[in-house]
Amino acid sequence: MTEKKVELQRGLRDVYIDRTKSSFIDGDIGKLLYRGYNIDDLAENSSFEEVIYLLLYGDLPTRSQLDAFEAELKANRKLPDEILDIIRLIKGAHPMDVLRTAVSALAAYDPDVKDNSTEATLRKGVRLTAQAPTIVAAHARIREGKEPVEPDDSLNQAGNFLHMLFGGTPDPEDARLLDKDFVLHAEHGVNASSFGARVAASTVADLHCAITTGISVLKGPSHGGAAEEVMKMALEIGNEENAEPYVRKLLSEGGRVMGFGHRVYKAVDPRAKHLRSDAKALGERKGQPKWFSILQTVSEVMEPYSRRGICENVDFWSGSIYYLMEIPDDLFISIFTMGRIPGWTSQVIEQFENNILLRPRLLYVGPMDLEYKSIDQRG
Ligand code: CMC
Repeated sequence: MTEKKVELQRGLRDVYIDRTKSSFIDGDIGKLLYRGYNIDDLAENSSFEEVIYLLLYGDLPTRSQLDAFEAELKANRKLPDEILDIIRLIKGAHPMDVLRTAVSALAAYDPDVKDNSTEATLRKGVRLTAQAPTIVAAHARIREGKEPVEPDDSLNQAGNFLHMLFGGTPDPEDARLLDKDFVLHAEHGVNASSFGARVAASTVADLHCAITTGISVLKGPSHGGAAEEVMKMALEIGNEENAEPYVRKLLSEGGRVMGFGHRVYKAVDPRAKHLRSDAKALGERKGQPKWFSILQTVSEVMEPYSRRGICENVDFWSGSIYYLMEIPDDLFISIFTMGRIPGWTSQVIEQFENNILLRPRLLYVGPMDLEYKSIDQRG
């Protein structure tokens, strides 16, 4: 086949691969809906638990549905001892590698592992959503030579994660902000990691395979890894005065400002708008306003790029929020993952319910019909 006859869609840019009811994105105006509900309403008014329910079951829960659902999540937080042993064995690895490995290993302990029915996939999605924070917090403590902290059933997902990470009672405002951060990360169209999860599901592999794939894909700095890179940049910049020369130098050398640009959004990412004001308020509350000032200056220097559709994305502000909560920087992507598992689960169910193998083509551009020589005749 010659190149002329094939229209390449490199990077699958603007290619629609299926229909979804999970989320809607209008990248031109920066609008995001989860199952029809505007992210602005959800971020301001709903808990992460409500949003998990929304994504998994299709609508917001009533009070009694939410109570039962929260109880189900809490009942699934603990990990089998063998998973804690695995975490201990690989404690020196990056937290995303530990999370990916532990999620993969959890398949061995899940009674529904082979069942791809909607009901079983929902049960597994709830379990993995509940277990992921326990994995991340346990690993963070084990690698510091501390014992894991038992989950606290009086706390929601966000508060309990902070409790399991630091011990004690979490700061209620930090817990509220992390809860909102989870809401903002819960679902986002067929981004690279959701695509990875869908590809796994399209082969009729199970949810643990799909979530493990999602975690692998999310790790890259072009995707979930950006928040960590943004905070590294802010720390390197060090003070507000250095921000402008730093960014100009980076751009003049052809570098990318992390936390800017998006394949779909050509306007400000609506999730970033929320986190911008939260990052400012948190910096003031923690007596460290300088990180917001540095990032604000970076954002001002990047202003001309908005005309090319390169605007702030969700990761631009989230890193500074986690940093101000004293969360180690290599845990930032794992926090994104904890928020995203419900979105991946919702899309895996969609894939299973109307499955088609995801199998695109590659245009071969190498040599053709070479003469084969036996090994002694080569070279
Ligand atoms: N800083 C400077 N220039 C940029 C940036 C940036 N952050 N992002 C894109 N550009 C430029 C890029 O250099 C290219 O310029 P030119 O046309 O002159 O070569 C143009 O914009 C288009 O870039 P692209 O790579 O073709 O666009 P894309 O849609 O493939 O890239 C992206 C999307 C997210 C990979 C990219 O914007 C990027 O690398 N951003 C930094 C990493 C980041 O913040 N990632 C988080 C994304 S949002 C959360 C998530 O999904 O996980």
